[in-house]
Amino acid sequence: MSTPVKIKLIVSSALLALSLSSGAADIDAGKAKAGMCAGCHGVAGISANDMWPSLAGQNTAYLAKQLKAFRDGSRSDAIMNGQAKSLSDADIDNLAAYYNGLK
Ligand code: HEC
Repeated sequence: MSTPVKIKLIVSSALLALSLSSGAADIDAGKAKAGMCAGCHGVAGISANDMWPSLAGQNTAYLAKQLKAFRDGSRSDAIMNGQAKSLSDADIDNLAAYYNGLK
């Protein structure tokens, strides 16, 4: 095996390992979970109430960070602290991917 081919293989298997370990988000599971959010954030992620933020199209990493902050209490909001309490890390990743995908 020539050296460039070997390097290509090493790089591509490292990238594969990286994408596997980051755990691909499950958008369908996020959509199912979002049923409990729709009352406030809207069925398509567009809120009808001026006091509730729209989530459609928001950045994935930002959404996940906010949900984790609500869950651990570092971002304080009486409603969202309660909402986030029951979410697992996987739920949060799935919800973030789902809302990011809405336009
Ligand atoms: C009872 C109403 C209600 C429900 C249900 C609800 N939220 Fe919220 N959500 C809010 C309010 C109000 C805020 C704004 C909090 C603040 O002012 O900091 C918020 C903020 C957020 C934010 C931060 C948005 C930003 O721009 O920083 C995210 C993300 C979020 N909610 C996700 C969810 C998810 C996911 C669910 C379902 C698991 C959910 N919410 C359920 C009312 C709700």
